[in-house]
Amino acid sequence: MANNEDLFKQIIAHAKEYGYIFPSSEIYDGLSAVYDYGQNGVELKNNIKQYWWKSMVQYHDNIVGLDSAIFMHPTIWKASGHVDAFNDPLIDNKDSKKRYRADVLIEDHIQKIEDKITKEVEKARKRFENFDEKMFRETNGRVLQHQKEIDDIRERFAALMNANDLAGLKALIEELGIVCPVSGTRNWTDVRQFNLMFATKLGSVSDGADTIYLRPETAQGIFVNFLNIYKTGRMKLPFGIAQIGKAFRNEIVARQFIFRMREFEQMEMQFFVKPGEELKWFDYWKQTRLQWHTDLGIAPENYRFHDHEKLAHYANAATDIEFKFPFGFKELEGIHSRTDFDLSQHEKYSGKKLRYFDPEANENYVPYVIETSIGVDRMFLAVFSNAYTEETLEDGSTRVVLKLPAKLAPNKVAVLPLVKKDGLPEIGKEIFDKLKKDFMVQYEDKDAIGRRYRRQDAVGTPFCVTVDNQTKEDNTVTVRERDTMAQYRLPIAELADELHKKLR
Ligand code: GAP
Repeated sequence: MANNEDLFKQIIAHAKEYGYIFPSSEIYDGLSAVYDYGQNGVELKNNIKQYWWKSMVQYHDNIVGLDSAIFMHPTIWKASGHVDAFNDPLIDNKDSKKRYRADVLIEDHIQKIEDKITKEVEKARKRFENFDEKMFRETNGRVLQHQKEIDDIRERFAALMNANDLAGLKALIEELGIVCPVSGTRNWTDVRQFNLMFATKLGSVSDGADTIYLRPETAQGIFVNFLNIYKTGRMKLPFGIAQIGKAFRNEIVARQFIFRMREFEQMEMQFFVKPGEELKWFDYWKQTRLQWHTDLGIAPENYRFHDHEKLAHYANAATDIEFKFPFGFKELEGIHSRTDFDLSQHEKYSGKKLRYFDPEANENYVPYVIETSIGVDRMFLAVFSNAYTEETLEDGSTRVVLKLPAKLAPNKVAVLPLVKKDGLPEIGKEIFDKLKKDFMVQYEDKDAIGRRYRRQDAVGTPFCVTVDNQTKEDNTVTVRERDTMAQYRLPIAELADELHKKLR
């Protein structure tokens, strides 16, 4: 059984081998934290986006879509606070010349202590028959000591981050004895703030041209279009605006594959509500978003909420939906109650009124906002890593199968003539032509049927349809299901209906 690190490496290798994800610019040795989606990756990604878009825009009569430009007026980023405060604290190791996020070094240190607790728990689990983890955590001396250490570091760390105390962060790193993973030394520079936005110049001549930014989130495109959509869509509160699009962040520590990238995609929805009603809607979106995830059939224990104790100055509630990635529970989606901060800031900086007229109260006000924000790529990684399965079959052989939720799988069905003769390929192609209008279908007639099944399992195709000699006699085919490997015969005429039923 592979450990989590090995498993993660296998998942990354699998993503490449089966045309899901390639390192960007690979023939030039790649570009750090930038990835390309291959022939299967683009389908899975599009299906994720469609699943989100439908759940937001199609299934809600009060949510509409938007596709705003990546380049926006530079003052937007001043108003939103990104120019002054969208920073990460960075620190360099003087020996290795490697750069790190100071907060990540401390979080990794905490994670190491947490790993010690997990090891203690695992050891005890093996020793005691009626093992009660909660009681063990509350009574075991070593675990209590580790937990106290973690609580103490967390408390000091949060205070330093809130106070923006960079010297204090460096002192904490030194006190905890954190070493550079590359050089192994503690020869650190001071901690400095580093703005994450990519800047470029507008216009063909850079001299005198205005600095503009590649957007670090899609949300601001929604806020600055609030009035346009409210007026032209004759919207009434509460209503939402949803957008899917690219975002860019110059991440200092970009790692863990597509978990943290420099160019990525977000699916964001801003839900505008009457002031005073925001916490009710915050709860609604918390539950609705979790349901969206678990509706995919992924086990609920892979998700948990992480409510923010320390809130940003403009928020009055915030939570993350965390997912159990191969490297542990990490943020997958954020749900934030952002009050009227963004619209009020844009009112201030643009000089335009961004208000809603409430006909019942007969007054104008700036609506409050609940935001749901999820990275497409992070969702991709969640679904993909959860789907990757290695099974030992009855005959002792292993099967690698990608148990993707069927509605997200790149190809829904593969049509496979048993042999490449006797008229079977011709029937297979006819079936392909029939199904292709409704589904993404693959046609394959090379190699032995067993090898083709294995290949479709590894790509994650939920159904295979095999054409054999009996097909010529009674117009039936064998349908094989990916997860159970169950096989049954169906008339060709019923295939499309049956697949629709299974995929709904
Ligand atoms: N508008 C709010 C916002 O952007 P965020 O927590 O910074 O909030 C929202 O980002 C989501 O975007 C995250 O939960 C994550 O899924 C995704 N995300 C953020 N930074 C990312 C990165 N560097 N690479 C991939 N996904 C990222």
